[in-house]
Amino acid sequence: MALAIAQLGQPVLREVARPVSPEMILDPQFQTFLDDMLETMKSSKGVGLAAPQVFASRRVFVASIMPGDRRSEKTIPEVFINPELRELSSEMEPGWEGCLSFLELSVLVPRHTSLRIDYLNREGQPQSLPLTGFPARVVQHEYDHLDGILTIDRAATPKNIIKSSEIDDAIEW
Ligand code: NI
Repeated sequence: MALAIAQLGQPVLREVARPVSPEMILDPQFQTFLDDMLETMKSSKGVGLAAPQVFASRRVFVASIMPGDRRSEKTIPEVFINPELRELSSEMEPGWEGCLSFLELSVLVPRHTSLRIDYLNREGQPQSLPLTGFPARVVQHEYDHLDGILTIDRAATPKNIIKSSEIDDAIEW
């Protein structure tokens, strides 16, 4: 079931989300919630979606960044529970980002070019993944949602916030 996406102005987008408890992960209701998040991301054509964006203030997001079959360009969606970002590169790079909570805006956001993300997958197993470039950008965007931070907060200047209709290369998240 696709879920309603909280739009800019909803207080849930500004809350610091609470961790998911180990018991909660294997709960059938929570697993259904994860399926709903994946479906919502897909139907919205987003690259990532964080739980606060569907009115659940919990530290979990989904992102479609895992490399799939080598022959295809397709990526496989992954569930990131209680993620932690480590080994953030000192090098940063600006890039245009969209957000499913305010598709109308695109924001130029500086992000670390590489990092490692530690997290629990939907089976509750610890995972550790080194990421660079676009996938690293996506997880930094989604992780920010868990702390109530939005792209507009990260703009170096308000001049870096523009209407999505005015650029071609903004990506929807
Ligand atoms: Ni977003």
